[in-house]
Amino acid sequence: MRVEVEEEEEMYPSTPGKVKVERSGAAAMSRQVHRCFASTGTMFLWALLLVAMTATYLSFRSLGDTSSSRSGRRRRRGAHCSLALRKRGDGVVGIDNFNSYYDPSLKKARRALLGSHGVFVVDGDINDGRLLAKLFDVVPFTHVLHLAAQAGVRYAMENPSSYVHSNVAGLVSLLEASKDADPQPAVVWASSSSVYGLNDRVPFSEAHRTDKPASLYAATKKAGEEITHSYNHIYGLSVTGLRFFTVYGPWGRPDMAYFSFTRNILQGKPITVYRGRDHADLARDFTYIDDIVRGCLAALDTAGPSTGTGGKKRGPAPYRVFNLGNTSPVTVQALVAILERCLMAKAKKHVVEMPGNGDVPFTHANISLAREELGYKPTTSLDMGLKKFVRWYLSYYGYNRGTHAFRNHLS
Ligand SMILES: *[C@@H]1O[C@H](CO)[C@@H](O)[C@H](O)[C@H]1NC(C)=O
Repeated sequence: MRVEVEEEEEMYPSTPGKVKVERSGAAAMSRQVHRCFASTGTMFLWALLLVAMTATYLSFRSLGDTSSSRSGRRRRRGAHCSLALRKRGDGVVGIDNFNSYYDPSLKKARRALLGSHGVFVVDGDINDGRLLAKLFDVVPFTHVLHLAAQAGVRYAMENPSSYVHSNVAGLVSLLEASKDADPQPAVVWASSSSVYGLNDRVPFSEAHRTDKPASLYAATKKAGEEITHSYNHIYGLSVTGLRFFTVYGPWGRPDMAYFSFTRNILQGKPITVYRGRDHADLARDFTYIDDIVRGCLAALDTAGPSTGTGGKKRGPAPYRVFNLGNTSPVTVQALVAILERCLMAKAKKHVVEMPGNGDVPFTHANISLAREELGYKPTTSLDMGLKKFVRWYLSYYGYNRGTHAFRNHLS
């Protein structure tokens, strides 16, 4: 499928996550969507709906993989999955509200790239039930990959309602549209490792308790797990929840530490490094985006079908939850050291005790279940992944360090 994305004037809500004013109305949107599909002259036998608001990241990357698999440059599991999806004639439609939680230009650049790969991205909000109903009317989606979320742990104290709006109300809106659809799609959605909250048994396993969230973000993700369970139970929706562990890489979220550290180190500005109580280092199970993408595709491919039609359950449907992590936690100090090596510059570290505002001291995934059921096997070390990230960062932000030494250093 090949669709041109129409350039529209972008409007951003003043507050991240805030409901976007409906500009064109559902009717106009429907015309636009109809036009789009009419122009391709095809209906998809097997289609993915990639939904994303702040997390277009992942949907973009899966496309990145697809494109490289076509040119045959990569020979990895993800590329094979993508290639297989293409061969089956998969079509992909995205939906993104392009909010301004972080640099909208980064999102626009991603959208342009998606467009050039033939993915139509609808500029809309998943909270818009009428828009979703129209989309499901036009395209018999077989799978929904729901990655939209209001992310970030500390921002929840500034703007709590944006978390409820995206992560709870938005999710319900999407599940409503999915259960009403005929056929009902299988839903794969992004939960989070943050649901483990104050759990101190390591490594975190899917069977552990998740009823002690440490942030509102975590609480809304936990709520999402319960909400999807009820839709699975009542309507026979096939549901797979993926608990992502600190996803990083090219095109990532600028509000994450590795991203802002890179920016500040390059600009010679100080970075704030949190340290746990009793001077313990914080550690995160950093997971590289390509590994996550492979996990997402595997989750889609192994998702059993939904059993309901038009809002009626016909039998039990699968409900699954998987950790997608890297299984090797790295301290923030080690992260900084790797960045210093990649950037050939010393960070000006400002070490302070972690404020008690939602961050947990460490995360560590047990991925046995995902390995067994999804064949999930992360292969990217933090060293290798950050090297790739830095290479992308320098080129995306136009750093012309120019010296061969610098480039060779990263290649
Ligand atoms: C990891 O989880 C599996 C169940 O999925 C469990 O059998 C195993 O003991 C766990 N491993 C560790 C090291 O806790």
